[in-house]
Amino acid sequence: MCGIIAAASERNVSELLVKGLHKMEYRGYDSAGLALHQENDITHLKALGKVSLLEEKLKSENPSSTLGIAHTRWATHGEPSEKNAHPHKSNERIYIVHNGIIENHLELKIFLEEEGYQINSETDSEVIGHLLDYFLNQRNNILDSIYLTKEKLDGAYAIAVLDIKDGENIYLARSKSPLLIGKGNNENFAASDPLAIGKLANEFIFLEDDDVAVISKSTIQIYDATKQSIQRKITEIDSEYQTTSKGEYKHFMEKEIYEQPQAILNTLDGRVGGDDVRDDIFGIGSSELFKKVKRIQIVACGTSLHAGRVASNWLSAIAGIPTQVDYASEYRYRNPHVDEDSLLVTISQSGETADTIAALRYGKEKDYLSTTTICNVPTSSLARESDFFLYTNAGPEIGVASTKAFTTQLTGLMLLVLSLAKSRKMNPKLRKRIITALRKLPEKIEEALELKQQIIKIAPEIAKKENALFLGRGIFYPISKEGALKLKEISYIHAEAYPAGELKHGPLALIDENMPVIALAPESEIVEKLVSNLEEVKARGGMLYVFSDTSIKMDLSSGKFINMPECDFLLKPILYTIPLQILAYEVALLRGTEIDQPRNLAKSVTVE
Ligand code: F6R
Repeated sequence: MCGIIAAASERNVSELLVKGLHKMEYRGYDSAGLALHQENDITHLKALGKVSLLEEKLKSENPSSTLGIAHTRWATHGEPSEKNAHPHKSNERIYIVHNGIIENHLELKIFLEEEGYQINSETDSEVIGHLLDYFLNQRNNILDSIYLTKEKLDGAYAIAVLDIKDGENIYLARSKSPLLIGKGNNENFAASDPLAIGKLANEFIFLEDDDVAVISKSTIQIYDATKQSIQRKITEIDSEYQTTSKGEYKHFMEKEIYEQPQAILNTLDGRVGGDDVRDDIFGIGSSELFKKVKRIQIVACGTSLHAGRVASNWLSAIAGIPTQVDYASEYRYRNPHVDEDSLLVTISQSGETADTIAALRYGKEKDYLSTTTICNVPTSSLARESDFFLYTNAGPEIGVASTKAFTTQLTGLMLLVLSLAKSRKMNPKLRKRIITALRKLPEKIEEALELKQQIIKIAPEIAKKENALFLGRGIFYPISKEGALKLKEISYIHAEAYPAGELKHGPLALIDENMPVIALAPESEIVEKLVSNLEEVKARGGMLYVFSDTSIKMDLSSGKFINMPECDFLLKPILYTIPLQILAYEVALLRGTEIDQPRNLAKSVTVE
């Protein structure tokens, strides 16, 4: 993961670089560093921990520079430490920041050691700087050295390079990891994410795989894989997308939970008309193409995968389309059979998740009819590389734990179901029912958010425990998995989810008075069976917290019933997500964890 940023300007860039790093802390926050060019010298600062610690160091040194690179790290190779923090340097001349993974770094280290280089860190990144220095010493100019270095590197990278002998330019290269250039007024920038430089530039150039670029304060030169000078498309990005303040909330996650009614309205905006979805909401030609789809393959990771699992139920039950769902990290390694007329659907908040991008690229080489993504970042790799795209329009999600991205993905997936069902003789009453329910969804979510006070009462009992079990059946099983994921990632309580009927096949052995069991029990044809499963838990002393909109005939000796608002059954998975997000948040608050930036995680997982 990691975030990189570079700036070439007429003014002092040190604070700009640190501000940009703060905006990219979602990509990693275990150490940070920068290198600033000053005449024939470089100020090189590193700090273990968050960007604010680097900022303190910077304040005490107060360097001024018009050319610099900076990095915030999420450790892949080598523990979080100052030694492993970027920028890495070679021969007191070359300074580099890197995002990605150099897969052949071990063999490159051996080569470099044989050439007399001393390896100073445990990272895979350090080799990049030494290779550049090695090629420079062989009388190549810096651009040629970058191309020669690229030939040696296997893996994914976005790199920014500062050369002590060059006070004008910053050199950039990318392969599989995101990197873009921002054009400012007599200044130019590069970063892993437009958020980092959004306030400084409004025109962006997304570098393509194997591009190399050189930026100075007044020039931008881009070269393709064959070293030919090339122009890449300029994109303008809506400045609203850049809004990243917590406002009245304690955490971004809290803010993002409470933003969900508006976020869902934004997803629906312009996509629904009368009693149906509009044509071509996934892009021009999508409605025509969707008529031919006979099967669907969904790939995604984490929370986005849970959205895919809910959607697979909808797709087969509502649109009659058989759907398979795979972890993006597994999909391409199982030699999947691709049926004719299949649509490949990827789901992602960031659109930069390395495994999901790799699955899309793998899929594009197979016989899929087409590819579609549901994604929250219109400029992302997934959005750009998919044939069709639905922008969830949830606004920036900063909290590492995904909340509004998930419920807007589910809303977008229901729009996909309706778009596919359009040409499949869908019962008009059912279509009207779903559209009506979608329109009411934001207000239903508002009602679910009002459960906060009830949830605050149960949070202390769960916060004391070290384990929790989530139960759901049918389409609520992926929602229970999402609830368990939220709890474990921000409160560090070990949480598992099971389809309730599976309990007696093993997990029941875990139940005693120390095991909180959180059950999703909406009114449905199997609610009676679920209640029997809950009785089995109660009989063994488990603490039950049951979220339900129906009267369940059961006395709880420990635990609580929480009455859910009523809502159309088909959209209940979205509604039942809300109290689970609030529960995870309130429990984490009591346990005093770093809610927006949980340990060991990062928001955008750009490594495989
Ligand atoms: C969990 C979470 C992750 C992401 C996953 C995929 O709260 O946020 O599990 O869902 O890393 O990320 P995207 O959706 O950006 O592809």
